[in-house]
Amino acid sequence: MHEQFLLFGATGDLAAGQVVPALANLLRDRLLPHGFRLHAVAKTRFDSNDAFRNWLGERVSKRAGDAADADALRELLKRTDYTAVDLSRPEALAAGLDIKSEGGLLSYLAVPPDLFVPIAQGLKQAGLLDDPARLLLEKPIGRDLASARAINAAIAQCVPESRVFRLDHYLGKATVQNLLAMRFGNTLLEAVWSRRWIERVDILVAETAGVDGREQYYSHYGALRDMVQNHMLQLLCLIAMEPPSALDADTVRDNKLMALRALRPLTADTAASESVRGVYQSGVVGAQAVGGFTQLEGQSIETFVALRAHIDNWRWAGVPFHLVTGKRLAERSTQVVVTFKPVSHWLFEKPQRQQAAPNRLLIRLQPEENIELQLMSSLAGPEWGAMELQPLPLDLSMPPTRRRRIAYERLFLDALNGRSALFVRDDEVEAAWRWIDSIDSAWRDAGCEAIPYVAGSWGPQQAQAFLPQSLARVARAPA
Ligand code: BG6
Repeated sequence: MHEQFLLFGATGDLAAGQVVPALANLLRDRLLPHGFRLHAVAKTRFDSNDAFRNWLGERVSKRAGDAADADALRELLKRTDYTAVDLSRPEALAAGLDIKSEGGLLSYLAVPPDLFVPIAQGLKQAGLLDDPARLLLEKPIGRDLASARAINAAIAQCVPESRVFRLDHYLGKATVQNLLAMRFGNTLLEAVWSRRWIERVDILVAETAGVDGREQYYSHYGALRDMVQNHMLQLLCLIAMEPPSALDADTVRDNKLMALRALRPLTADTAASESVRGVYQSGVVGAQAVGGFTQLEGQSIETFVALRAHIDNWRWAGVPFHLVTGKRLAERSTQVVVTFKPVSHWLFEKPQRQQAAPNRLLIRLQPEENIELQLMSSLAGPEWGAMELQPLPLDLSMPPTRRRRIAYERLFLDALNGRSALFVRDDEVEAAWRWIDSIDSAWRDAGCEAIPYVAGSWGPQQAQAFLPQSLARVARAPA
């Protein structure tokens, strides 16, 4: 296991909100090696290591609250040093870093993608990417296929692919891993996992938070690039990929790649019927008045996107995959819903069938993590003249015995140990961008603008049919 963790972007929001709390928790649970050290790097100057430690400690406590263990944070800060350096100049970086790579070095680039290449080049010049050093990259890798390819090619000049780890924090969430266990550990599901028995798949990532403070980044990326290209497509891959013959990194990633390549590109002809873009206006979220999204001048970007994706292969032909994500929506809710076909011949409550709900597998990732199977059962009782049915939700989750882990904890451990299965390979990233590029150009060719929606709603009215049916009642209720 590598002992040294080099964090670029140490003064950013991600570092204080997720990275440092995750490392502190791993330290508390004694999952990090004895000699673990954190080398923090960013461009802001501090008077001393202590000044940085104090600043970071306060910031983490403010941002992460209970998620970071206070004692462990203190211990982590003792093992932390800080270097201020210009991240955009490889020579300056190579000269400014005074780090020995003994014990194994993992460099994590929690910075915007335009800094990946100069930082990797600086690390290479300093000898900090020599075997067995590893490079961990935060998403997004580029802004489109061309920029992702350029980044991947330049990174490959600095370090071989086997030592590159591309992080998507959704792959570190416990329920996402449980999804694999459910799919491939149960004959019951294996038998029905195809277009013959599945009616539709919904992937929803609804946030109540706004863009707040990230306008600069967001105005160039938008919801399509910020959420769909990575998190949502990774979820789609795990649902849609063919069963791998083994769980090693490349076998799983080969199968995910095939699913991505089977995604039907969006075209100008299909853009209007298969997608909706939205942008939030002022409104009320959780009883609080909030402002609208302020676009940077000259930009027109979406904070909401709804897509109907099609996977053109034998398993999924004709099954729509609805992908919906947005900021400032009515609720924070991340879920995958697999809806099965209706019962072929319904015997009950003729002719109304009011209670005839289809079977559903619901995988919730937020706000709580659990998996639920919705079956139908009878409302038994002698007073009922006819047999009536009701939906019976079966909770398939293990009772929570331990505290919920930050997704980054698992991923950092895997990267420090050199396990690649939960990281994204170069060709996967490029296949995902190829599909995203088709959407971007379809929107441009068809003139699809972002439709305003009221903050605290479920997005533009035009997108309601894309929402999971289990949500539809709430979504269609008048504001
Ligand atoms: C990040 C996006 O990758 O994921 C954010 O950049 C988004 O815009 C976040 O808010 C959502 O992550 P989670 O784990 O809170 O669903």
